[in-house]
Amino acid sequence: MSVVIVVGAQWGDEGKGKVVDLFTERAHTVVRYGGGANAGHTLVIDGKKLVTHLVPSGVCHPGKGCVLGDGMVIDPYTLLEEIAECQGRGLLAGKELLIGLGAHVILPYHKLLDGMREDRSAKRGKAIGTTRRGIGPAYEAKAGRRGVRIRDLFKPARLKDIVDANLDEMMPVIAHFGGTVPTAGEIDGWIADAIRAGEQLRPYTGDAGRHVAQVIRDGHHVLFEGAQGCLLDLDHGTYPYVTSSSTIAAGACQSAGIGPTHIDTVVGITKAYATRVGEGPFPTELLGEVGDKIRIAGGEFGSTTGRPRRCGWLDLPALRMGVRLSGMQSLALTKLDVLAGMSEVSVCVAYKLDGRELDEPPIDPDDIARAEPVYASFPGWDKLPAHAHDITDLPPTARSYVDTISKMAGVPFCLVSVGPDRTETIRLTDPFA
Ligand code: IMP
Repeated sequence: MSVVIVVGAQWGDEGKGKVVDLFTERAHTVVRYGGGANAGHTLVIDGKKLVTHLVPSGVCHPGKGCVLGDGMVIDPYTLLEEIAECQGRGLLAGKELLIGLGAHVILPYHKLLDGMREDRSAKRGKAIGTTRRGIGPAYEAKAGRRGVRIRDLFKPARLKDIVDANLDEMMPVIAHFGGTVPTAGEIDGWIADAIRAGEQLRPYTGDAGRHVAQVIRDGHHVLFEGAQGCLLDLDHGTYPYVTSSSTIAAGACQSAGIGPTHIDTVVGITKAYATRVGEGPFPTELLGEVGDKIRIAGGEFGSTTGRPRRCGWLDLPALRMGVRLSGMQSLALTKLDVLAGMSEVSVCVAYKLDGRELDEPPIDPDDIARAEPVYASFPGWDKLPAHAHDITDLPPTARSYVDTISKMAGVPFCLVSVGPDRTETIRLTDPFA
């Protein structure tokens, strides 16, 4: 039995969906533990694309357990749509899905507030660039002990009481932001819709923490699927340009409700370059032609919002920080194929700030923005063989790039992905072994 956590080592969008899908072959159960529909995982199986926002990326393996942990903030309508989409493809046909009764619920007013705050902050040039999925307001309500949990959807009187109390506080804020204050009829409509959605979700709900602990006790392999990336972590990321949950490996235990002694290994996912969506410092960002080339070649447009992702060279100080924060013991490298055709590829090996060389980003986001990347350059490579299965199938220049990143990050690679399909993968070690 092994328990493996997979986390994004950068600012999200590292290709976790594909890696989780591959690792699920060996897992009994996959547990998504944080965030909500701000995430978007694109899976390509037999040339067909499936994008999930809430259901774990292990969903494409019929019969494997898919758990949504209590640390998540769940938009019930998005989840119902996703379940229907999966079932339309013959997935989630049995008892695979389990939604934690303690997970929090995103309601229309969370999204309303998220959007209004962003618009207002944008006017001051201070937007976070959120996905506007209501993530921040839902986690605020949770921390403020006035959130709605999945189990509250089954108790109409309790649900109404919580929603009324929330809106009582929120109405003046909505009015202050220049928003349209919802009418009593609209609020009743939101509550009625939430109750209906709850009834539809009810058959899938249960005590997720106990279930996962039991699966581990029964000796099965369990895979924890992180959302976003370590540098978007609420406590340790590039605050305030972060999401509102714990995206590092430690978040898996806290959010899923199991102890840290159960975890065997942590795998980080990094792209062969870097991307970021939304605002916040990004020292290796490429604003010209090379950045555009990477964006087009890598299809770097948000799978949740469609926003073009900011693209840049691989940032080793940021990667080292992710490795440290999550205690990563191995890395999966994705999208190596995207850099093919470039005469030269660069990697930021350190930052220079006020005459000092730093191997990890400084704490203050203004300092990160001021930091000057120190680059090392590598000769590029031509098209990679799509069906490369061994590291020796890679051109020597690509191989040397991979080896150097691993050495400089201080962690070995367990997998190198050379294309979106399951088959376009070089597997080096098995994290469940
Ligand atoms: P929120 O999570 O919607 O509040 O957004 C906060 C920040 O996290 C913004 O910069 C988003 O672009 C970023 N973010 C949230 N989820 C993802 C993700 O899945 N991939 C990449 N960035 C994300």
